[in-house]
Formats: sequence, C-alpha cells, structure tokens
Amino acid sequence: VPRDPAAFDLRASLRVLADVTSYTARGHSSHSRRWGAAETDVDMTRKVCVVTGGSRGIGQGVVCGLVARGATVVVACRDVAVGEAVHGTFAPGRVAVERLDVSSLAEVRVFARRIGERYGRLDVLVNNAAATFARPERSVDGLELAFATNVLGAFVLTRELMPLLRATSPARVVHLGSSAQYLRRLDVDALLDPPRPYVGELVYAHTKRAVAELSRRWAERLAEHGVVSNCVNPGLARTPGVRRDYPVYHRLTGRMLRTIDQGADTALWLAVSRAGARHTGGFWFDRERQPEHVVPWTRARPEETDRLWAVCERLAG
Ligand SMILES: NC(=O)c1ccc[n+]([C@@H]2O[C@H](COP(=O)([O-])OP(=O)(O)OC[C@H]3O[C@@H](n4cnc5c(N)ncnc54)[C@H](OP(=O)(O)O)[C@@H]3O)[C@@H](O)[C@H]2O)c1
Repeated sequence: VPRDPAAFDLRASLRVLADVTSYTARGHSSHSRRWGAAETDVDMTRKVCVVTGGSRGIGQGVVCGLVARGATVVVACRDVAVGEAVHGTFAPGRVAVERLDVSSLAEVRVFARRIGERYGRLDVLVNNAAATFARPERSVDGLELAFATNVLGAFVLTRELMPLLRATSPARVVHLGSSAQYLRRLDVDALLDPPRPYVGELVYAHTKRAVAELSRRWAERLAEHGVVSNCVNPGLARTPGVRRDYPVYHRLTGRMLRTIDQGADTALWLAVSRAGARHTGGFWFDRERQPEHVVPWTRARPEETDRLWAVCERLAG
C-alpha cells in the first residue's frame, strides 16, 4: 500500500501533464518498448476470473487476454446475446456470459452468490463496467444512475465476493478508473445528487475519482488477507462506449485512439503478472504507478473518503 497516496508530488504531476498525449495509441507503442513480453506470459489455467462489462470494449480485451492464458472467465453484462456472440465460439467451456446489471443491488447480490455456488473460487475480479449518462437518471433502487453503475455496483460486488476472494487468496481486484478523475475532488453529496445543470462528463469524472478512492480503501482493508486492489487509467481507447457517449471526440480523434488490446493492457497486466500481485492501492497507467492528483485542490479530506465508504456500506445493506 503506498505510504501517502493522497500526497501531492509536483514533479510527478508535471510529468503526467506533460505526457497526456501518451494516452493515445502512440503513447502505448512507445511505453511498451520498456516492457518484457514475459511479464504477462503467465499460465492462468484453473484460475477463475470475473470481468464486468466484458462483452465489448476494454472489458472484452481483458477477457480475451485472460482466456488466452488459460483462465475460466465469467463475463458479466446486461446483454447476454451480445456477450455470447462475441465470446461464444472463442473458447467453449471457458467463457460463461452471465446477465448482470451492476446498477441493481439485487442483481449484484444474486450474481455474487451464483459465482460462489458454481465456481467455489475467485482469483481475479475486474470491475470494468461503467458508463457516461447524458441526463440525470435513477437506478431501479432510486439512486443516481452514474453513481449506482460506476461506483456502488462495483463496491457491492467486491464486498459480496470478498469471502470468496479471501478464501482463494492470493487474489486480485482491478478497478477501471480514468484520467478523468484528475478533474474532480471527491464530494459525496454531489456524487449522490449531482448539481444542475447536469454535465454527464463531469459526473463521470467524479465517479472515477470515487472509484480510485474506494480502490485504495479496499487495498488498506485487504492487505492482510492476500487480496490486492489496484485502479487503472487505460488511456484513451477506441471502444463502442466512447463512440456512443463522446461521438464528436470519437470522430475527431478516432485514428489516434488506442486499440481495445492496448486499452486493456495494464488491467490485464495487473490481473496476471507477478508484479500485479506485489502491488496494492496504486493508480496505474501503462504499467507504471501514477500520482492520484495533478493539482493539489482535488485531494479529498480523509473524512470525506470515510464518508463515501460508510454511505456505500449503508446502501449495500
Ligand atoms: N474507452 C476509453 O477510452 C476509456 C478511458 C478511460 C476509462 N475507461 C473505462 O474503461 C471501462 C470500459 O470502458 P469502455 O470504453 O470499454 O466501455 P464500453 O465500450 O461502453 O463497454 C462497456 C461494457 O460494460 C457493460 N455495461 C455497461 N453498463 C453496464 C451495467 N449497468 N451493468 C453491467 N454491464 C454494463 C457493457 O455491456 P452491456 O451494455 O451489455 O451491459 C459493455 O460490455 C469503463 O470503466 C470506462 O470508464 C475507458
């Protein structure tokens, strides 16, 4: 667990700001020159992994990488037909596509129970499913939908699966974060009820800040139990989600964006590599630890993160 991850490091921040163009495909190609292929050359046979939102985009890339290394993977998404069309013939018997809407507390609980009953172990949980919403909406539980989907769903899923992860340990949890978190400071009231006018991109950025804060808290709580928790900035990847939620941006930058495999690379590395088992509580980009803040005023008071944790626990029941 990093010593003081919320500490502000000017030099590291300037490096991140000077390097934002490396979020593109070119950045990945250039950074990947310093990696050894053997880092992810790992046999995952007999390992069981869950990837939320594994039916397309970055999640699909992570699923393919895990299956290619021999793992059994449960893909959790809302549209099972799409998931099966993507993965059905890819590795029969080793990919199971299961219906899950992470914004529904009841569905998350049922899904987690099913994983325990069917597989009896869990080596890797990748909390990848997330979305940007154009207007304020409510989940089936009456919660702000971006918060319910991007933050609470992953929190409850991690919590419900924790006994299984601990029983399987060493085990890993990987959260998909975003560089968008750099734009926001954690404010629990605004997270639960975003101010109007509703700006979907800023709400999304706020949920990603919350994901990173919770990932670090999971790391602190699980350090003794053989379960690591890390958060990933995947860079900017050409995915169906980006095309749908950011059409103009996608049209302008399309060719510069990362491929799905490039976007999935660091999440996969954290899920399978030896290094991924050694680190916990970090925010990662292209297999390197990144600062959690690029400007000092996005740092939250520890009490605010405590509050977020307590709110999630209360809502989780
Ligand atoms: N692409 C980028 O450049 C980028 C940059 C920074 C961070 N990220 C993060 O990376 C992750 C993946 O992004 P992406 O661009 O690959 O997204 P995407 O193309 O929209 O794919 C999202 C996946 O999540 C599933 N999903 C969406 N809502 C869900 C819900 N309520 N319950 C269960 N599954 C749900 C979708 O399947 P169904 O619709 O069938 O449920 C799909 O499989 C996200 O956490 C995103 O915030 C992406």
